[in-house]
Amino acid sequence: MKKNFYITTPIYYPSAHPHLGHAYCTTLTDIIARNKRMRGADVFFLTGLDEHGEKIQKNAEAKGVSPQEFVDEVAVTFKELWNKLRISNNDFIRTTEKRHLSTVQDIFSKFVKDEDVYLSAYKGWYCVHEESYWTETQLGPDHTCPECGRPVEEKKEEAYFFSCKKYLDDLLKLYEENPKIIVPVGRKTEMINNFIKPGLNDLCITRTSFSWGVPIKEKEGHVIYVWLDALTNYISALGYGKKDHSLFDKFWGEDSEIVHIIGADITRFHTIYWPMFLKALNLREPDEVFVHGLLMMKDGKMSKSKGNVVYVEPLIERYGVDAVRYFLGREIVFGQDGEFTPEGFVERINGDLANDFGNLLNRTLGMIGKYFDGVIPSRNEADFTDLDRDLLEKGRVAARSYEVLFDDLKVTESLAKAMELADEANKYIQERAPWALAKDESKKNELANVMNILASILFEVGMLLSPALVEKSEGLFDQLGLDKEDRTYEKAVSLSSLEGTKTQKGEPLFPRLDVVKETEAIKEMMAGPKEKAAA
Ligand code: MSP
Repeated sequence: MKKNFYITTPIYYPSAHPHLGHAYCTTLTDIIARNKRMRGADVFFLTGLDEHGEKIQKNAEAKGVSPQEFVDEVAVTFKELWNKLRISNNDFIRTTEKRHLSTVQDIFSKFVKDEDVYLSAYKGWYCVHEESYWTETQLGPDHTCPECGRPVEEKKEEAYFFSCKKYLDDLLKLYEENPKIIVPVGRKTEMINNFIKPGLNDLCITRTSFSWGVPIKEKEGHVIYVWLDALTNYISALGYGKKDHSLFDKFWGEDSEIVHIIGADITRFHTIYWPMFLKALNLREPDEVFVHGLLMMKDGKMSKSKGNVVYVEPLIERYGVDAVRYFLGREIVFGQDGEFTPEGFVERINGDLANDFGNLLNRTLGMIGKYFDGVIPSRNEADFTDLDRDLLEKGRVAARSYEVLFDDLKVTESLAKAMELADEANKYIQERAPWALAKDESKKNELANVMNILASILFEVGMLLSPALVEKSEGLFDQLGLDKEDRTYEKAVSLSSLEGTKTQKGEPLFPRLDVVKETEAIKEMMAGPKEKAAA
């Protein structure tokens, strides 16, 4: 693991109130950022908004406000949601900010100077919704957008183009040399087959038919077409090209690990054009572009335009932020598409958090209370049995696999690994049967060992889950009676003895949900008037 770690989400279109799909990407990125921080990396986590473009301009017109007013209003709802979800981003970039705007202009000027761009006319099939031009061969049936299925329109206008041909060889070399440039690897095959093999067209990077964008200095009437504007956020936020570029040097430098987390819908822009822009700027590429799947509903991708969105606020209000965060991290395998269903949500919370995790906590603290007046007893290795040694060893192995999985961005599997350890500990309770040991005075030492080991394992499980369970992990550490300064990753995974600590059994952290009632409640949230639910 490198010391410096730079991680980003896509910058979202503030075209409407954010939904669970946006929350999915940001939460997963947050879980990774928190994991790396907890393990000692110096992390910079960036998210933000992509505020220009024709769609935003049209939405603002429809609402009778200026585009700036429009995005200012929606920006607040994104920021509020990230607060509620306890997102730990270090910065929030908006592409209408001056710090970003001037960087985009400077980059475009450099491209002009270096002859990376040229003026021409663009004729093509344009999808207003996706803000993408498509070639004839890429279109869906009846001239529809291959991405969203809406009809496309034929357009021609004066435009600047970025010369992709110039950088194609570099791109292919990058694909060969860095297997992580597109993860999962299947997405790379998609890029090669769908976009590169058919012949990569140069990319249109200015537009003249709308005005809501970064104006270029070189020619009146042209604004930067969204993708050059949007992608630049990853370096403008760090101060690239600015007087104070210390953050840029630190987090875009060679000894930083750079990871972009994106949804499958924007892979092309991040894995074809972005590396090319960076090459043209003589900058290093990211280490990894991780493509997560989409959150689907029974009727397809969750999106505002499909009218099937689930808002996050009512879920947080009813079940707490950790239930939502854990569900998103654990239920949908990171990198694959997944479906949101009310049943799936309730089952996941009950099965993992109320049963496995909650039971372990309640039983352990209950027994420490009953047999040792709530004080964690000492451990005596001379009286260890194979089962004791075995569980401690499983705890050590779990931490190592968890780290490897996390560094591979296998977030779902890492959380599952932590939960497996909770399962093992529950099994251990059954096998060691402390209630029986307690009846036998000669087994007092063994009973103490069992309780001591369980407390250490519980501490570890809480720590491994803490990037997802940001509040409840603290609740667990409170109940275990740990001092604030002792709540470190190193201490937790060392599984050292917590003897003498006074535990404080409290309320169950995750009360069991009534399946029928809660399934209905979530259905109600999904069916209710959307704007009301989001308010
Ligand atoms: N503004 C561009 C991205 C520019 S990045 C330099 C954009 N914005 S978006 O708001 O439409 O979508 C951004 C991301 O939101 C997607 O890539 C994806 O990560 C996330 N999601 C939006 N809807 C989603 C689902 N239904 N499911 C999962 N993620 C979703 O594209």
